[in-house]
Amino acid sequence: MTATNKAESLRRRKGGRPITALTAYDYPTARLLDEAGVDVLLVGDSLGMVVLGMPDTTQVTLEQMLHHIAAVARANPQALVLGDLPIATYDTPAQALATARCLVAAGAEAVKLEGGTRQAAQVRAITAAGIPVVGHLGMLPQSVIQEGGYHKTGKTPDQAAQLLADAEALVAAGVCAIVLESVVAATARLITRQIPVPTIGIGSGEDTCDGEVAVVTDLLGSFPWFVPPFARPEANVADVIRAAVAKYLARVTNR
Ligand code: KIV
Repeated sequence: MTATNKAESLRRRKGGRPITALTAYDYPTARLLDEAGVDVLLVGDSLGMVVLGMPDTTQVTLEQMLHHIAAVARANPQALVLGDLPIATYDTPAQALATARCLVAAGAEAVKLEGGTRQAAQVRAITAAGIPVVGHLGMLPQSVIQEGGYHKTGKTPDQAAQLLADAEALVAAGVCAIVLESVVAATARLITRQIPVPTIGIGSGEDTCDGEVAVVTDLLGSFPWFVPPFARPEANVADVIRAAVAKYLARVTNR
């Protein structure tokens, strides 16, 4: 399926079978997730934290994103390969389009950017060039320094109205889906009801969106030093690694 067809079939999932999305940053993980039938492989800039050991996503570079997008794309997945535009690479429509083209050249089939109304011109520039765009609203990790931390959004009627206006601006600009991160459940549900493209939630309540996205290390329990409160680990890969290494150490040192 072409990138455009994959994005179109994602858009058509509005109100239907829930969308499943997981982050992936490397070839083997991408293959395993794709073989399991995940709809979207997000090469998120969470890469900075859960793979590169940075404190947040604000130091992730375009080169780093391209390196990991290429690794995921080499898995040749059925899933849509969605790449994050890293911070400070989409400040103008022209810059956003140039960056999106770099991600596509590396193997991304769609790109994601953070922010609402202020990103409408950037979204228009990218979609006009035939590259599908996913929006990202709510808690915006690239703004963590200005925001002074990670805060739940959409709590007050004013915040909810602003988020809805941002979602509508992104839809008018042509996004095929919107990630809602750390939005209170009632507001996530409201936005999901009001907009014609799928919402994909993370930390935004159960059954409030048209699908869910999770950071793969949160799902697998492979990054034990920080686990967000909304994470629902289905495995404890950190302990599996520790046990395997302990056996290896014992075998080699006791020979
Ligand atoms: O970078 C990322 O992993 C993300 C998800 C949190 C949606 O943007």
